[in-house]
Amino acid sequence: MCGIVAYKGRQNASEIIVPSLKKLEYRGYDSWGIAVINENNIEYVKKSGRIEGEDIEINLGDANIGIGHTRWATHGSVTDENAHPHLSNDGNVAVVHNGIIENYKELKKFLETNDFKFVSETDSEIIPNLIEYYCKNVRFKTAVKRTLKRIKGNYSIVAIERETGIICASRRGSPLVLGIGEDATFVASDIPAFLDYTTNVVYLYDGDIVLIDEEISFFNLDENVEVKREIEKIEWDAEQAKKGNFKHYMLKEISEQVDSIERAITQDKELIEGFAKDIKKARNVFLVACGSSYHASLHGSYLLGKNTSINAIPVLASEFKNYINFIDQESLIIVISQSGETVDVLDAVKMAKEQKGKVLAIVNVQGSSLTREVEKYILMNAGPEIGVLSTKTYTSQLAILSLISYSVNNKYKKGLKALKALIKYVYALTSKNTREYLKKLSRNLRYVEHIYTIGRNLEYPTALESALKIKEVSYIHAEGFAGGELKHGTIALIEKGTPCIVFVPEKNNEEIISNMIEVKSRGAYIIGIGSKNIEEFDFFIKVRDAGELNSICQIIPIQILAYHLAVMKGHDPDKPRNLAKSVTVK
Ligand code: F6R
Repeated sequence: MCGIVAYKGRQNASEIIVPSLKKLEYRGYDSWGIAVINENNIEYVKKSGRIEGEDIEINLGDANIGIGHTRWATHGSVTDENAHPHLSNDGNVAVVHNGIIENYKELKKFLETNDFKFVSETDSEIIPNLIEYYCKNVRFKTAVKRTLKRIKGNYSIVAIERETGIICASRRGSPLVLGIGEDATFVASDIPAFLDYTTNVVYLYDGDIVLIDEEISFFNLDENVEVKREIEKIEWDAEQAKKGNFKHYMLKEISEQVDSIERAITQDKELIEGFAKDIKKARNVFLVACGSSYHASLHGSYLLGKNTSINAIPVLASEFKNYINFIDQESLIIVISQSGETVDVLDAVKMAKEQKGKVLAIVNVQGSSLTREVEKYILMNAGPEIGVLSTKTYTSQLAILSLISYSVNNKYKKGLKALKALIKYVYALTSKNTREYLKKLSRNLRYVEHIYTIGRNLEYPTALESALKIKEVSYIHAEGFAGGELKHGTIALIEKGTPCIVFVPEKNNEEIISNMIEVKSRGAYIIGIGSKNIEEFDFFIKVRDAGELNSICQIIPIQILAYHLAVMKGHDPDKPRNLAKSVTVK
């Protein structure tokens, strides 16, 4: 995954593009570059590493048209040459690209036999050169169309032409959105790139090509016609996408959960009840997602199983093909995704639709590919989540799934009341006191090699999510288990001092307590999360009991713990190594 920004307006393009790119570094940050059209020349800078120090003030002269890219290498190692933008041999076209060109070898051979030379190891460098190849006979826009018709794979690209100053952008299976300011037009992989300038956006559809010249026009490659795309106003504001007084986005987003949960449950009642009706009507129900969102779907499945007669099957999106024989027009598939761009999720949606299943979504990013592919969707309304880890969007997913589960039981009002009451618990959990308290625990744990997390029933998905939060940001090996499962093998790894986090509900807790005693008696250091301190706990994290809504609260101290562990170990919690915010490659 990479970040793309393009700008055409009245201001200095490099001064706008570089800070905007910085806002997209969560999408990739191993190298970056910009190119601007300056007095009939394309001037560019390409660098390995992050945008740092003086980079942010780079000024490539008085140009007001340009493109930029922050890269997460997929094709070719991390070098200055492989960074984007890439230029055509004649220097007339510069391109930034996100995605993978599957038929790159064949296209490279074709260009080489036509005397084109390559300076990078990337597949992306094919694009400006193919455009140059076609530009010999046709205008820039047609050359871009012909180029894109030859490319196999998912992409988002922006190309600029030196001669005309035209920007041409297109997407297929990879996000790209336009920002329409008063005197400026932006193209970017994600809205925060231009939120300081405008909240008017145009979402591009797959196969769309947008041409930004004196006017803006749209063409769809698949339909082979000019198309109209509407300007939409988005609710997010620039402040939401900034760190404010927080050192990191991750901590800011953890602390925002009082508001994000409130917004998640402030939904159109009819929409939630509509989902509930669809669930009751369906012959079979699947909850499909990846990573943290999958943990939310597992939780949703347990909730429905516990409170209703619905058997909703949680499925990892990347494994969905194994369920395809069970999907028909009476099946309901609810996909859960923060970004709405995860390729495994989008593939699962495609498969489900091919089988005539009814597909709905719970999603955070308005206008994302997912919102266009499903029959209807519930927006999480969590606001932009810039930190790579899912934090506030995870609890929003749990809150929405809880509300749906209450609605399936015709208890929407009761559910809403219970969720509203929960918000004051969340307030205490995100307070400075709690954060300081958990800092102590982080100091105890910062040098450990392994952490185990256990929970039963509704606390089992929480155990899985806790382990994921800890390992992805602190790089400490962490594994989550159902309480009853540890003794079937992994207990062999417990030795004196091995930290084990245990989620203990107020009621029906005998079995998890007994699992805890099993590990405690092998020397484990027990970190207990629950409403009451228990003798066996070595460290106690108090979380008021919220019954079936416990999971929404219990994950929060772990998010904070994971954050402190990362910071104490000198890692950047907003950009964990090897990870990107949305996974748009297989
Ligand atoms: C973990 C995390 C990932 C995502 C997963 C799915 O903190 O963020 O595991 O949950 O990549 O992403 P979405 O929800 O965007 O489909």
